[in-house]
Amino acid sequence: MPVPSRRQPAVIAPSILSANFARLGDDIARVVAAGADWIHFDVMDNHYVPNLTFGPMVCEALKPYAGVAMMDVHLMVESVDALVPAFAKAGAGLISFHPEASRHVDRTLALIHDNGCQAGLVFNPATPLHWLDHVLDKLDLVMLMSVNPGFGGQSFIPATLPKLAAVRQQLDAYSARTGRVIRLEVDGGIKPDNIGAIAAAGADTFVAGSAVFGSPDWAATIAALRAGAGAASPTVA
Ligand code: DX5
Ligand code: ZN
Repeated sequence: MPVPSRRQPAVIAPSILSANFARLGDDIARVVAAGADWIHFDVMDNHYVPNLTFGPMVCEALKPYAGVAMMDVHLMVESVDALVPAFAKAGAGLISFHPEASRHVDRTLALIHDNGCQAGLVFNPATPLHWLDHVLDKLDLVMLMSVNPGFGGQSFIPATLPKLAAVRQQLDAYSARTGRVIRLEVDGGIKPDNIGAIAAAGADTFVAGSAVFGSPDWAATIAALRAGAGAASPTVA
């Protein structure tokens, strides 16, 4: 008998990398009012990736503007551990990192939980999935990069779709065994016209930067993303 899909109700997480950096607080309040579920906060260090964005002080200053929307902190930094308590204090709800950027993946996951946050592991297009094999019990979320990290506005890499399907299978088998549900997030190049295929491959959590902030009507774009994600296949709560 096939294992039922435990894909969760869709979460739309606009990345403020594509917001107006001169008025981030207002843009966050506006995008939450437009229907954003989470705020995706891309932390880049000009070391792990060739770009530089913002750190915990900026997260803390912006947190009140997010209201009930969770701060989804995506660490593209090396090393990871020193920033975990800082982002937890700054209001992060979930902290994700790239396994090859941490000396001790298991210890970093424990550190995130010890600081009261959910933990996510992020896979670049070229990162193999075997990093997942021994840490599923410690994960709240798996994130697949569908672009190479560093910049917003890149095109979705189609090879992400079979990779997503493989992770979906692994997560569904894990849920059937344990009853625990792990979210599957995708990051990069997501638009209203490709989100259906991405959801059908197994994703339930969607980062969208340029698609939302580059559109004239953020509410309409978020609604279109949610409709596209929801139409793909039934979800199990
Ligand atoms: C890339 C970032 C993404 C990116 C998403 O390194 O992690 O969050 O900004 O932006 P779009 O949706 O424009 O690809
Ligand atoms: Zn990101």
